[in-house]
Amino acid sequence: MKRIVIRRPGGHDALELVEEPDPPAAPGRVRVKVAAAGVNYADAVVRMGYYEAAKGLYPITPGFEFAGTVDAVGSGVTAFKTGDRVVGISRFGAYASALVVDPRQLWPCPEGWDLSECAAFPAVYLTAYYGLFKTAKVEPGERVLVHSAAGGVGTALLQLCRVAGCPAVAVVGAAHKVDLCRSLGAEAVIDRSSSDLWAEADRAAPDGYGAIFDANGVATLREGFKRLAPGGRLVVYGFADILPRGKAMPGLLDLAWNYLRVPRFSALEFKNRAVMGFNVVYLFEKLELAGEAMIRMLDWARQGRLKKVPVACFPVEKAAQAHASLESGTTQGKLVLTF
Ligand SMILES: NC(=O)c1ccc[n+]([C@@H]2O[C@H](COP(=O)([O-])OP(=O)(O)OC[C@H]3O[C@@H](n4cnc5c(N)ncnc54)[C@H](OP(=O)(O)O)[C@@H]3O)[C@@H](O)[C@H]2O)c1
Repeated sequence: MKRIVIRRPGGHDALELVEEPDPPAAPGRVRVKVAAAGVNYADAVVRMGYYEAAKGLYPITPGFEFAGTVDAVGSGVTAFKTGDRVVGISRFGAYASALVVDPRQLWPCPEGWDLSECAAFPAVYLTAYYGLFKTAKVEPGERVLVHSAAGGVGTALLQLCRVAGCPAVAVVGAAHKVDLCRSLGAEAVIDRSSSDLWAEADRAAPDGYGAIFDANGVATLREGFKRLAPGGRLVVYGFADILPRGKAMPGLLDLAWNYLRVPRFSALEFKNRAVMGFNVVYLFEKLELAGEAMIRMLDWARQGRLKKVPVACFPVEKAAQAHASLESGTTQGKLVLTF
């Protein structure tokens, strides 16, 4: 098997490809021949050494999601058989061409979705699901503002907003991302590279937003909070702009400077508005909860209620290129590594 290993945090050259014998399928476990593994922004943060849940786990193989074919089944497993096409989650480790996992980490792929499209599904959809339905608990009709809407989590949020009956206003950082957001049902798309983000956001929702999803951090949290309608929730689920755009290994000075600029909210400011945060990695250990969400969303995919988004494929040998591409901030949809 081939596997990416990060021996110690670093830039792109920290992603080392190693080859080793396939692991056997242990009793109660399933071995998957992985065709593709999703690339998430969090993987780059793991590589840099700043991902809290990965601390102390180096050398580490990154990766939260994968899709492939079952090629061996341990004794006692009845849920899957050799040859089944499966999509799965893993708390790290998915950048590997063979994985041995608990069958509760796997689900059958929807028909009509290829393995790359399936590998691109779990992490961003679980994040969007957890954010919309378990954190913000949106109600039909509530208007939602989605930052970085053409990216992995952003496109999943737009689609789940549609399913939830919530009009979504999409914000993107470049003109080439506008059409994708429109095609996914955004009510309005704001290209902040060519227009005044907050003037446009006010125009799109004069009465404010029921929920705002923000993984930028420093740049937009304070102004976003002001745009919440009474009862509105600002959901903070990432801090991309604490890491300088396109820098493979930010220095401590960069981090310290951006950290100092993180907005602080006073309890006196709230007035029926909330600031909330979550990390979906928590779900990767609560397999019952993750399973409930995956089964529901894969059904929506089967019914055609979730559209496929563009997936850029990189052979695993080009993992560094995939990370560089994601960190550039110019990608749309999802990226996967293929084996
Ligand atoms: N809390 C959780 O459980 C959880 C789970 C998954 C992901 N996340 C977070 O959600 C965010 C999106 O993740 P993703 O994997 O779906 O990535 P992505 O959205 O496909 O790509 C990142 C996007 O963020 C925007 N961005 C803002 N500041 C940036 C910077 N300094 N460098 C690069 N890009 C920047 C860019 O879009 P625009 O220029 O169009 O804004 C870029 O395309 C990340 O911050 C990630 O850490 C959190």
